[in-house]
Amino acid sequence: MHRILVTRKLPSSVTAKLEAIGEVDLYAGEGAMPPDELRARAAEAHAIVSMLTEQIDSRLLDAAPQLKVVSNVAVGYNNIDVPAARARGVIVTNTPDVLTDSVADFTWALILAITRRLSEGERAVRSGAWKGWAFDYMLGTELRGKQLGLIGLGRIAKAVAARAAAFGVKVAYTSRSATLENAEKMSLDRLLVTSDIVSVHVPLTPETKHLIDKKAIARMKRSAYLINTSRGPVIDEAALAWALEHRLLAGAALDVYEQEPIVHPGLLGLDNALLIPHLGSGTTETRTAMADLAAENVVAVLSGRPPLTPITA
Ligand code: DGY
Repeated sequence: MHRILVTRKLPSSVTAKLEAIGEVDLYAGEGAMPPDELRARAAEAHAIVSMLTEQIDSRLLDAAPQLKVVSNVAVGYNNIDVPAARARGVIVTNTPDVLTDSVADFTWALILAITRRLSEGERAVRSGAWKGWAFDYMLGTELRGKQLGLIGLGRIAKAVAARAAAFGVKVAYTSRSATLENAEKMSLDRLLVTSDIVSVHVPLTPETKHLIDKKAIARMKRSAYLINTSRGPVIDEAALAWALEHRLLAGAALDVYEQEPIVHPGLLGLDNALLIPHLGSGTTETRTAMADLAAENVVAVLSGRPPLTPITA
């Protein structure tokens, strides 16, 4: 009998797929599974369905000698030590494609919200600070004619780019190998210097940690906005908070943070920082599709078939 450890409650249709092929050990606690408990319950597991909040490291993998597959319910997999898994013959899978539109839509929601000062405005209404319409009250920045600079050109960045024409925004991007029609490829430095909105779409790796640091921020226009829906540590939050406080950037909209759920205290009091609690893929449809794909990956591996979306990097 296969034992499948599931670290968070999933839609019942998804759990049913797993129950059809094995015994499901569901962690029913609130939030991320505590590492000790994860290790203890992984001891018998043939599969783990993990979230981005669980660290799947060599210590955990050593505690799970029967493990065949770790199926992450996320496209990002920086929470998993993939080389360590591979060395132990454990397959790792993620959930690409199914969340692309959701995160791309959300990226535009952040762009619109920060450039048109939506959360600032909403706060003013709720607090009673709004004294009525005024010609020059809380003016934002127009998108038409501006340049959106995409750092990275994976599936989500391409979907963000595909929506740009609707707003009259031109697209620039950085990428090692990918190319995109109707958009200009440029170096990171040129993209930072010339873009009005910079949106981060690279995975978190040792190379991308603090890719956007004090120096990078200093290259950006003072009128520019920084958007992050990828992973928090790609941006040096302390440097960003300092730059926003000193109005070296117009604003930043963040969905992800260096130490989730902790947000750098310097950001919390700033009107020009839009702070969202990691909701990029957070629609019922997309989260269900992500969980379903994760389950299909487990079913495939435990049935002796190749996984649908293995991590091959
Ligand atoms: C992902 O899939 O990596 C997202 O961050 C989850 O919301």
